[in-house]
Amino acid sequence: MSKKVTKAIFPVAGLGTRFLPATKSVPKEIMTLVDRPLVQYAIDEARAAGIKEFIFVTSRGKSALEDYFDQAPLLEQELRRKGKTEMLEVLKSTNMESGAIAYIRQHRALGLGHAVWCARRLIGNEPFAVMLPDDVIAAEKPCLQQMVEAYAETGGNMVAAMEVPPEQASSYGVLDVSEDRGAIVSVKGMVEKPKREDAPSNLAVIGRYILAPSVLNNLNRMKSGAGGEIQLTDAIAQDIGTKTKVYGYRFRGQRFDCGSKAGFLQATVAFALARDDLRDDLSRYLTEIAQLDKAAQ
Ligand code: G1P
Repeated sequence: MSKKVTKAIFPVAGLGTRFLPATKSVPKEIMTLVDRPLVQYAIDEARAAGIKEFIFVTSRGKSALEDYFDQAPLLEQELRRKGKTEMLEVLKSTNMESGAIAYIRQHRALGLGHAVWCARRLIGNEPFAVMLPDDVIAAEKPCLQQMVEAYAETGGNMVAAMEVPPEQASSYGVLDVSEDRGAIVSVKGMVEKPKREDAPSNLAVIGRYILAPSVLNNLNRMKSGAGGEIQLTDAIAQDIGTKTKVYGYRFRGQRFDCGSKAGFLQATVAFALARDDLRDDLSRYLTEIAQLDKAAQ
């Protein structure tokens, strides 16, 4: 029986340059999908999976993120006074238990592996999750929860995985599969952002991980990899062939790459269409513009 996973690391130190000028003053993770910041989706998913401690690896200019997780007593008081109980509930659902969140600064942008390593003292000697908030996953059962259930059987290290078009594999960590059991695959190799001709498959790593503490030891060696950065993929790959095996998990759900503008827009539309209060108006509008577009061609 594997140890319970109760800690999650959220690497949020990136500059978000793809979203400039917005990210000049707003951390990317606070940008909203419909009416909730990107990071709230990751937090909710983590909570559903049983995570109790949330570790944010931040950088300069991310104070809005800390404020977001703080309680807002004046706002709550005002909503209570006005009898806006529904909004009050929405607000309360974002409150975090005191002491459940920790912030660690990554002082230099040395890569995802380095960001995770920065949190090593808060993890200690137990398995932990890593969640990349840019990857938003819409799923009936939240993705990390699916993984926690699968991990209870496998132990080791587990990364979320998804087939991508082969020409896109070079944007991801890519798995070399030794045994394909459907949802769970055993991994015999992992390459970060391979050249198209070097990609061992088109099964890509998506930003959800359950990792053994051995990965933190591997990161101690701090070798830089693809793009000159210290890569998490490389540190996980070092466990292959040891007793701590590496598995890929094909999750059920739809993943949006909210690190790109197109992905962010698609997620916005998909999440809005899933909402009772927005669906009708939005789908009418989308049909209208699709017809206009057709007529113009
Ligand atoms: C990171 C990881 C990569 C993974 C990707 C998923 O890359 O390094 O292995 O496939 O997230 O979104 P990034 O997108 O930060 O360059």
